[in-house]
Amino acid sequence: MGKKRIIVGVSGASGMPVAVALLETLRIFPDWETHLILSRGAEQTLRYETDLTPDALRALADYSHDPEDGGASVASGTFRTEGMAVAPCSMKSLAGIACGYADNLLLRAADVCLKERRLLVLGVRETPLHAAHLANMRRLAGMGAVIMPLMMSFYSRPRCIEDMTRHMAGKILDAFGLEMPGFRRWGEGDL
Ligand SMILES: Cc1cc2nc3c(=O)[nH]c(=O)nc-3n(C[C@H](O)[C@H](O)[C@H](O)COP(=O)(O)O)c2cc1C
Repeated sequence: MGKKRIIVGVSGASGMPVAVALLETLRIFPDWETHLILSRGAEQTLRYETDLTPDALRALADYSHDPEDGGASVASGTFRTEGMAVAPCSMKSLAGIACGYADNLLLRAADVCLKERRLLVLGVRETPLHAAHLANMRRLAGMGAVIMPLMMSFYSRPRCIEDMTRHMAGKILDAFGLEMPGFRRWGEGDL
């Protein structure tokens, strides 16, 4: 049996440090293989929010797919994966996934996860939210996707933004059964 595969979609919403933390942490699991799809919008947001180039982010993944490549492995349900995390997930990508409008590889890969009944975690990010945003989340929750807004939490007593960022990435990894080092769980240790 080969490595387990996870698809990481990064779209153009705010929250690029979460994507970085996610990809960096996935590197410590040798039996997992990462497939990154960085949307065009995400390339722009990455430049605003971090000092990383798109190529530097891509280098964190085992495989990086062109978002316009409809023939990529992850575009097919026969390519086995454990599922996909989209983080951050923009309202535009959320809408595309909710409607089955798969006009780029990120949307197609998410569509495949839904149709194959695989785990799809959406780290949605926007504020405030209007009725269509909420309706799209409601619709996808009903289709089995995990709606995991990139929300701050304080019970883990973060000392800095990096702590909070890692906690958010840790929540996403947790959905795949992966433990973020130092992840603080309620009711365990000093919490
Ligand atoms: C700095 C910056 C921050 C943004 N933040 C958000 C956001 O938090 N949520 C969102 O839905 N769109 C946000 N956008 C807009 C998206 O990038 C834009 O709608 C893009 O077309 C999304 O396309 P994609 O989902 O294919 O990446 C942001 C754009 C920029 C430049």
